Amino acid sequence: MCTLLSQRQAHLTEQMDAANADSKQLEQTYADFYTLNRFVSQWNRVYAKYIRPKAKEIQKQGKIFHVLDVGCGGGDIAFFLFQWLKKDGISAHITGIDIDDRAIQWAKANRSVQTETAHINNNNSTGLFFECLSTTELVNRGHKVDLVMNNHVLHHISLDEIKPFLTECAALGTIVICNDLERSSLAFNLFSLCLFPLRFRSSFIYEDGRTSLKKSFRKDELDVLTSRGWRVERWFPFRLLLLYEGERGRA
Ligand SMILES: C[S@@+](CC[C@H](N)C(=O)[O-])C[C@H]1O[C@@H](n2cnc3c(N)ncnc32)[C@H](O)[C@@H]1O
Repeated sequence: MCTLLSQRQAHLTEQMDAANADSKQLEQTYADFYTLNRFVSQWNRVYAKYIRPKAKEIQKQGKIFHVLDVGCGGGDIAFFLFQWLKKDGISAHITGIDIDDRAIQWAKANRSVQTETAHINNNNSTGLFFECLSTTELVNRGHKVDLVMNNHVLHHISLDEIKPFLTECAALGTIVICNDLERSSLAFNLFSLCLFPLRFRSSFIYEDGRTSLKKSFRKDELDVLTSRGWRVERWFPFRLLLLYEGERGRA
């Protein structure tokens, strides 16, 4: 049966966010993000259009490119980004943070690439690191990076927390790129149909994917949540990019 998603269903929660989620299924979900994100998230295009030019600018200034992936989950996007930058000869210090320590433990075990022993506040090291932290904690420490990014996080955040969350992202990064699903009945029905076999996998990926599509935003809904310095772009297929380009850089 065809489902229509004209209204955002913000009250729903993903199974992966439950404190008592089955650990095996949760771990398989983090692993499955890797494959799903490669095909749907379009970060390779975002990298080519926005991230590589910024990273090259920083490289020309003789600096290490500093990135914060907020809500990194299993760390796959941070991992892809680290590999792409490395291939382009760009030194990077990427930190994935998440408020869920189960995600951070999984990412540390499966995605860390440490070229030097380093801490999140060591500005001269390169590598890929993961820490269980919130944006609020990093803002309070006066942390600054060149790029703050997140993938499939906005729809996880309650409506009254989104504006403060975006303000914190903008305080932390010179540029911010939030990449999320665009709610659409067509996307939901295509996902439900084409990825139906995933329903039988020992992972939350299928049901949480469907829930996420019901909770995600439309462009006009994101437009009203943003202020000066932010803009929303629609990307094919069924993606929204929320971009911030501010003046405040890393000290
Ligand atoms: C759907 S998962 C996306 C994981 C990863 N970004 C990816 O695309 O594979 C959303 C993640 O955001 C995290 N999260 C939700 N709200 C957050 C917040 N305010 N700060 C940091 N992480 C958050 C959740 O714990 C969860 O791991």
